[in-house]
Order: sequence, then C-alpha cells, then structure tokens
Amino acid sequence: MENKARFITFEGIDGSGKSTQIHLLKERILLETGDDCYTTFEPSTGPVGALLRQFLSGRVKTDENTLAALFAADRLDHLHNELNGILEKTEHGCHVLCDRYVLSNFAYQGNKENLDWIISLNERAISVLKPDCHIFIDVTPKIALRRIEENRENIDLYESMESLTKVRSAYLSLFRRFNGQENIIVINGNQSVEKIADDIWNKVSYLF
Ligand code: ADP
Ligand code: TYD
Repeated sequence: MENKARFITFEGIDGSGKSTQIHLLKERILLETGDDCYTTFEPSTGPVGALLRQFLSGRVKTDENTLAALFAADRLDHLHNELNGILEKTEHGCHVLCDRYVLSNFAYQGNKENLDWIISLNERAISVLKPDCHIFIDVTPKIALRRIEENRENIDLYESMESLTKVRSAYLSLFRRFNGQENIIVINGNQSVEKIADDIWNKVSYLF
C-alpha cells in the first residue's frame, strides 16, 4: 500500500463509544506501523464550534436549519484554519482520526425536506477531504443512553431516547443512499471495548 496520510472518521449516536475507539485505533496504528495519528473532533475547538456547544447545552437556542449551516461552517473552519486545521496535517503526511464529519450533519440535522440542501452545504468539505472510510459504531439507543447517564452530569440537546432512535435510523437510511459512493464500515458497538477495537482494526488495517 502506498504511504499516504489517511483520513478516518467515526460516526454513531451519542454515547456509542467513538472517542474510546479513536484512542484505541491511534494506539493500534502506532503499534502496528509506527505511524502517529492526529486525533480531533467536531464540533471543533474553533469559534463556530464554541457557538455550537452553547446551542447543544441549551444555553442558547436556534432552529435546526441554522444549526445545520453552522455545523457545515465549523467543518470548513476545522479543515482550513491555520492554527490546527486538518488539511495542514494530511498535507504533511499525518493520518487524521476525526470524531464525526459530514454524516453527522446529515443524520442529526437532515430530514425529508432539507437533506439535499445539507448535503450540498457539505460538498466542499467532501471534495476537499473525502474520508478513506467512515466507521459507524452501531449501538442500540438504550445502551447509549445508559452509558451517557452513568458517565455525565449534563445531558445535551440530542441525548434522549426519542432523538437517539431517530438519529440511528437516519444513519441507517443514509448508508443505503451513499452505498457505493462513500466507504462506510458498520461495526457492532454492543460488544466489549476490546472486541470493537479488534473489529475496527480488522476492517481498516488494509489502509496502512
Ligand atoms: P462517544 O464519544 O461516542 O460519546 P465514549 O467513547 O465517550 O462515546 O463512550 C461513552 C461512555 O461509554 C464512556 O463512559 C465509555 O467509557 C463507555 N464505553 C465506551 N465503549 C464502551 C463499551 N464497548 N462497553 C461499555 N462501555 C463503553
Ligand atoms: P459529540 O461531542 O461527538 O457528542 P458525543 O461524544 O456524545 O457523541 O457531538 C456533540 C453533538 O453534536 C452530538 O449530539 C452530535 C451533534 N452533531 C450534530 O448534530 N451535527 C454535526 O454535524 C456534528 C459534527 C455533531
């Protein structure tokens, strides 16, 4: 395999175990290949990401279309900004593992009326940096909610049974829509941390 910087994104409902697995994949890549990875997440640590977190916590409110556009704007800033932009890393040969990317925007903010519009808002991000693969960690909303409630003091905007159920089925229908267009890997997230990490490595090791 050519020596190319990889861009791998993680997707899933809140509490699905993305950050746990990103950390483990980074360690595994280092162990198996000696390569370091830059790990990052969306909403980003940039100015639009900070605003988004105020909406997610309920501190301030807005409508879903404004949120959708802000998530897409945050993504472009996350790619291009000069301080810690993703593109700067990949252009210098560094692999990037990112917690959430365009599919989160489609699954969380997309609905029958506005999905095509949100997809178009993300066309630039996809054309600038298309993930080598999107890893979807599939957990049942019940398990995800239990993990969130056990481990957190604050519950965010989308962290209810109703919302997580809706978002999970939105992801599953997106996979049908993007079949053949995007490399989407679905992993059973209702397993032990170690088993999930092995399943992920078995699916992505060919990239390294
Ligand atoms: P996310 O980044 O998707 O919100 P986290 O990795 O933060 O998910 O995991 C949410 C919580 O669930 C954390 O407390 C984590 O330790 C726990 N957790 C993650 N994966 C598993 C798993 N496979 N089994 C049980 N608990 C898990
Ligand atoms: P995150 O911090 O990944 O939450 P968690 O670790 O619980 O999964 O993401 C914060 C929230 O932002 C999450 O509820 C999903 C939401 N989100 C969107 O709604 N649209 C987007 O485009 C992105 C990137 C995140």
